[in-house]
Amino acid sequence: MISAERIPNNVGLSGNKRLQRALEHWQPKYIQWWRDMGPQGFQDYHQVYVRTAVSVDPSGWAHFEYVKLPEYRWGIFLADPVHDRRIGFGDFLGQPVWQEVPGEFRNQLRRLIVTQGDTEPASVEQQRWLGQRCPSMYDLRNLFQVNVEEGRHLWAMVYLLHSYFGRDGRDEAEELLARQSGNRDKPRILDAFNEPIENWLDFFMFTMFTDRDGKSQLLSLSESSLDPLSRTTRFMLTEEAHHMFVGETGISRIVERTCQLLERAGYSEDVRRLGGIDLPTIQKFINLWFSLSLDLHGNEISTNAASYFGNGLKGRAQEEKWNDHQATEAMYELDVPAGGALEAKTIPMRTAMNEVLRDWYVTDCDAGVQRWNKIFERHGMSFRLRLPDRKFNRGIGMFSSLHFDPSGVHLSNEEWERRKHEWLPSPPDREYLLSIMAEPVYEPGRFANYIAPPLRGVNRQPINFEYVRTEA
Ligand SMILES: [Fe+2]
Ligand SMILES: [Fe+2]
Repeated sequence: MISAERIPNNVGLSGNKRLQRALEHWQPKYIQWWRDMGPQGFQDYHQVYVRTAVSVDPSGWAHFEYVKLPEYRWGIFLADPVHDRRIGFGDFLGQPVWQEVPGEFRNQLRRLIVTQGDTEPASVEQQRWLGQRCPSMYDLRNLFQVNVEEGRHLWAMVYLLHSYFGRDGRDEAEELLARQSGNRDKPRILDAFNEPIENWLDFFMFTMFTDRDGKSQLLSLSESSLDPLSRTTRFMLTEEAHHMFVGETGISRIVERTCQLLERAGYSEDVRRLGGIDLPTIQKFINLWFSLSLDLHGNEISTNAASYFGNGLKGRAQEEKWNDHQATEAMYELDVPAGGALEAKTIPMRTAMNEVLRDWYVTDCDAGVQRWNKIFERHGMSFRLRLPDRKFNRGIGMFSSLHFDPSGVHLSNEEWERRKHEWLPSPPDREYLLSIMAEPVYEPGRFANYIAPPLRGVNRQPINFEYVRTEA
């Protein structure tokens, strides 16, 4: 029997028999999926010190306890309603927001929710082997925290599907558990969510760059005229911030450790001989995950994006910062490929909404990279990390059929093939990373040689706290 105790919520679950029945049917399948596709080797005999959201106020979602992962209390939360909230953009600007799904936008809204929902279990699947290679118990806990919250984000989307989309919604909720990351027959919807995440450099880059795409998308969905979607995604953003913290500080700690190793060895030494991660490899993983995550923002010129905006379904990030919320006349300038060169082109702003969101995303990523670069400054080193040009290594959009180097210089196919591993992880790079991660570190307070300890522990606990404990 489903209860508020088992499923913390602020959606009145106990008084909603229809929703209860739908979730009672779905929940066992979810748990089975979590056991099969969630963290491998940490289901039955480990207790993890995790944060569980039990309400939306700050004290409520900072509730920490030891739990066995399959017993985590995945809840359903909407951010508090905004009094007299009005539609903030598009053709219905100024009208009251919707509490129900308008029939004419049902398909579009369902597609937006399913696409968002699909990424959540996908990332859990991608990350399911990482526990066996963890650099510390602190990091192991962070991995599981991210995983259970992605699971909760799936619950959030399934709540919307069950509550507002009837039969179709129930079918979609089942499909969300049936697709599998990287599966040839039933892959996840978006490409970056089918890429393997086999080592912790992948993981930290994923949480830095791909979870930040999550932030882009959640910001734009939190502007939505469909109020329950807006309120759900607004609460998800509070959790997303922690995922990006895990990624950004994970890379900071690797960079810090690499600088220490270099300092000790007199700068000329090959860091790999000291068991660290060399800076060119870190740069290659930035190039990879940044470019994969750029693709998630979709085509540069998109009539779908225009229609989502016009219909008030998906806005721009921080829509209130724009002056013109209808964008009927506004134009947007971008470079398009023309022959072997690029040509400036002006297009209606509405068709450029994916690119507008990508602009926001690139700026947000760059701020993070500049924070990493401060570490080199502190060590008196001139090396700097950087984002590759946005044309580099694209699989979606108008640059996907062309090749560019990280500075945006156009390359022939032959040159790309010959040189791509100068910029993207090569098989030997991956083998090296697996070799230094082969032995997991499960001893409290100890850290793998390639990563520095964090500045502080979780929830004011010491760094050597037993964040994951084994049952006797
Ligand atoms: Fe998420
Ligand atoms: Fe996330």
